[in-house]
Amino acid sequence: MINALRGMKDLMFDDAERYTYIVETASRIARNYGFDFIETPILEETRLFKRSVGESSDIVGKEMYQFTDKGGNDVCLRPEGTAGVVRAYIQAKLDRQQGRKDRFFYYGPMFRYERPQKGRLRQFHQFGVESFGTAEVEEDFTLIMMLSEIFDALGIGYKVKINSLGCSACMPPYRNTLVGFLEGIAEELCPDCQRRITTNPIRVLDCKNENCQNLLESAPKLSESLCEKCDRDFKRLQKLLDTSGIDYEVDTHLVRGLDYYSGTAFEFVSDEIGAQSAIAGGGRYDRLVEFLEGKPTPGIGFAIGIERIMELVKMPEEERSGWYLGAMDAESLDAILSLGQKLRRKGEKAVVEYAPKGLKAHLKGADRAGAKYCAVIGENERKDGTVWVKDLASKEEKTVLLESL
Ligand code: HAM
Repeated sequence: MINALRGMKDLMFDDAERYTYIVETASRIARNYGFDFIETPILEETRLFKRSVGESSDIVGKEMYQFTDKGGNDVCLRPEGTAGVVRAYIQAKLDRQQGRKDRFFYYGPMFRYERPQKGRLRQFHQFGVESFGTAEVEEDFTLIMMLSEIFDALGIGYKVKINSLGCSACMPPYRNTLVGFLEGIAEELCPDCQRRITTNPIRVLDCKNENCQNLLESAPKLSESLCEKCDRDFKRLQKLLDTSGIDYEVDTHLVRGLDYYSGTAFEFVSDEIGAQSAIAGGGRYDRLVEFLEGKPTPGIGFAIGIERIMELVKMPEEERSGWYLGAMDAESLDAILSLGQKLRRKGEKAVVEYAPKGLKAHLKGADRAGAKYCAVIGENERKDGTVWVKDLASKEEKTVLLESL
């Protein structure tokens, strides 16, 4: 038997329904906020991710599905959606047109070669949004509102964490101060953090190791080293969130695992799904378009991990819908087939059972198919040009003229 690869899952029945419901709900809300659908390729050049997500990130360093294609190109299955959307934005030359504001949403599979566990897959799905050309912190607020609205609509509880990662003016001096602090405690840190002091010191702040976290309690805080503009924006964001009634917490150790962020960073977490508690994450990436050789353009976005919220979603109660059609003898099959065609052309859902059966068996089939109506033609109906119909919700039964349906 051939099975799916480790860390990759089939979505069917209930899961497939949940996936579709999440994507449809999030897409509807994104459109209400002025976002347009975008679809970018799943396979991209490896250097796109190296340059955006960053060589020192775990994603690029350890988790890429990277290979050489038949043409000798170094390519990679996308580990996340932002890089591809930014590439598409630059490739379409949208960065060259002044004053544009472009807002996109997308969904689909992402690939990370991680150690599979609950909430962590190798192929997983994200719903994400990216907004270009808006530098105002009000956009940061709007995206956080939109994400809350999506989770509210899906009936999911969450906690919001925010931080500011500073900009090219205030981040480098903070990084130096932090490195100085970390060098002083280096021997006590875990091996990963010791390595990160030189490769990516900011990532030390969100190390999951308890001992490291204790040592970091007295670390210098980025929120206390922000430049005037970043500080003003971060305070304004908090004020807007205060008045909106969204419950949030400033987490000075929230640094995100991708290198392209600056300014606002945020995560939504759930305490109902175990250790992998982040259900969505995002933030500003005002330098990313430039890093990928576009004209400097501010950007901000987020992505939801669809599998992580799948079991939390409150689905609306499923109602019976459509038609189940059956013949009671072989001679009635043609009439039932053409009734099926007629109903579908009218926009109705209709499923035909081809095997002639007795009424009881057809009613059972209709029930199993979740149909609202069971319509059956037998010898009598065929002769009279009628069809017998039962409404499975109201239990009402009647015989009607085929033409009048
Ligand atoms: P991220 O935090 O790497 O951000 O991923 C976003 C969400 O995807 C996570 O919060 C989590 O729910 C889900 N996720 C990540 N890895 C896995 C996995 N292995 N299995 C299941 N779910 C997973 C990004 O990807 C950024 N591109 C978000 C963004 C958009 N920032 C700006 N724009």
